[in-house]
Amino acid sequence: MSNFGKLNSTIIQSLISVTGQDRSITEPETLKVYGKDHTEDFVYLPELVLIPENTEQVSQIAKICFENTIPLTSRGAGTGLSGACLPVHGGVVISFEKMNRIIQIDDINYQAVLEPGVINEQLQLAVQEKGMFYPPDPASKGSCTIGGNVAHSSGGPRCVKYGTTRDYILNLEMVLSDGEVIWTGANVLKNSTGYNLTQLMVGSEGTLGIITKIVVKLLPYPPFRSLMLASFASATEACACVSSIFKAGVQPSAIEFMDRKGVKLSVQHQNISFEQKEENAYLLIEVDAFEETALMPQCEVIYNVLENHQVLEVLMADDSETIEKLWKIRRSIGEVVKRQSIYKEEDTVVTRGNLPELYEYVMQISESYGFEAVCYGHAGDGNLHVNILKNDLSEDIWQNQLPEAITKIFEKCKALGGTISGEHGIGLVQKPYMSIVMKEAHFNIMKGIKQAFDPKGILNPGKIFNN
Ligand code: MLT
Ligand code: ZN
Repeated sequence: MSNFGKLNSTIIQSLISVTGQDRSITEPETLKVYGKDHTEDFVYLPELVLIPENTEQVSQIAKICFENTIPLTSRGAGTGLSGACLPVHGGVVISFEKMNRIIQIDDINYQAVLEPGVINEQLQLAVQEKGMFYPPDPASKGSCTIGGNVAHSSGGPRCVKYGTTRDYILNLEMVLSDGEVIWTGANVLKNSTGYNLTQLMVGSEGTLGIITKIVVKLLPYPPFRSLMLASFASATEACACVSSIFKAGVQPSAIEFMDRKGVKLSVQHQNISFEQKEENAYLLIEVDAFEETALMPQCEVIYNVLENHQVLEVLMADDSETIEKLWKIRRSIGEVVKRQSIYKEEDTVVTRGNLPELYEYVMQISESYGFEAVCYGHAGDGNLHVNILKNDLSEDIWQNQLPEAITKIFEKCKALGGTISGEHGIGLVQKPYMSIVMKEAHFNIMKGIKQAFDPKGILNPGKIFNN
C-alpha cells in the first residue's frame, strides 16, 4: 500500500506540538540516525522523528497519523537485524528513548512494569539486585530495548532453558492505530479470557499497534554457574553433540555454537590471547543452579557426552572473570563479523537434532556458490546464525545468485522441521522468503489480522509482508 497522505507542514506542526520542539527531529543529518539499524547498510530516512514521554503523547501522535494516513514506525535502540524498524515509506518515527523507566518491580508477584525504552541489561541488573531473574538475553543486551525485544520475541543464549521474550510477557499497554489505548490482557500468570492479544502483539514487529507499557514475569535468580568451552575438529560433530547432552538428562542454561572463523575474528578484534590449534568449532555450554553443589554433577554428565563426540579439549570456567571473557568472545562475534564486509545474515532454525544436517547443508551451499559463511548461534535451540560475507564477490553474484542460495537454505530449514527466523524477525530482509514457509491461506489470515488492527495500513508499513 502506498496511498499514504503527504506529511505537510501543517501536519508536522501539529505532531511537533504533541511532544514539543525539543522532542522532535527534522534535521536531515539527525534523521539519518533514525533511518538505520544494525541490518546490513540500509538507510531509509523518516520525515519526522518524535520522542514522546508518555502514552498520552503516543496516542495523540497515532490519532494525527491515522486521520492523515501517515506511516508511523516505532523504534527502540535500532539494534535489530531484520530491518524491522526502518521507515521504508518515510513518515513518522516514534523513538522510545525517553520512555525508558522501570515503573515497578514487584517482588511479591515476581513481575515488573516497564516502559518500552528500558534497556534489557538494565532490567536484568535491577531485578537481580532483588534476587529476581529476567532471562532473555540477546547479544545486544547492553543496548537493545525491551520494546524492541517484544516486537521480535528476541532470544539469546539462555532461551534454551528459559524460553524467549514471548514467555515472559504477561500484559501490554498498546496504542491502536487510531490512537485508542487498550491493555491486551491482565497481570496474571493464567488467562483464558478471549483471544490472546498479548501473544499476538509479541513478535508483530510494530505492525499491529504501538506498545507503551510492558508487564514481564520474573523468576528467582539462580546465583551459581559453570561454563565449559569444548573444542571439536569436526563442526558437524559439535552440532551432533548438542542433542546428546539433552538425551543424557541435563538442561544447560546455554549451549552456543561458534565456528573457527567467528572465534578467530572475535578474539583478534578484542585482543584476547586465545590459541587455536586444529579445532574447527566450539560449544560454549553453561549450567546454572541455586546450589553450588548442583553444578559439578551436571558438568560431569556433559563431559562424558563430549568425550563420546570426539571433543578435542574442554576448558572449565567457574570464576567470573573467565566466564565473562568467554561470553564476550561469543557475544561479540556477530558485531565483529559484520565489520569484515558487506554481509547478509540468516537466522536459520531447525529442530535441535537436525542441526548437524543444517550445518552441513549451509557449508555445501556456500562452497557451491563460492561465498564465505561464518556460523554461530544458539545450538541448543537449533538456531544457527549464518553470516554470509560479500568480500570480493561480484555485484551480480551478490544480487542475483545469493537470493537463490538463501532460498535453498531456507527450503532446507523447512524440510528439517524449522523456519526462516528463530529470533531476529522478518522485518524487511526476510520478507521475500516468507512464502517458503507459509501457504497463501496462512498469509491471508495474517493479512486479515493486520487489516483488523490497522485498517489504513499506517503501522510500520512494508514489514513482514507487503500491505
Ligand atoms: C547473536 O546471537 O549473536 C545475535 O543474535 C546477534 C547476531 O546474530 O549477530
Ligand atoms: Zn542470536
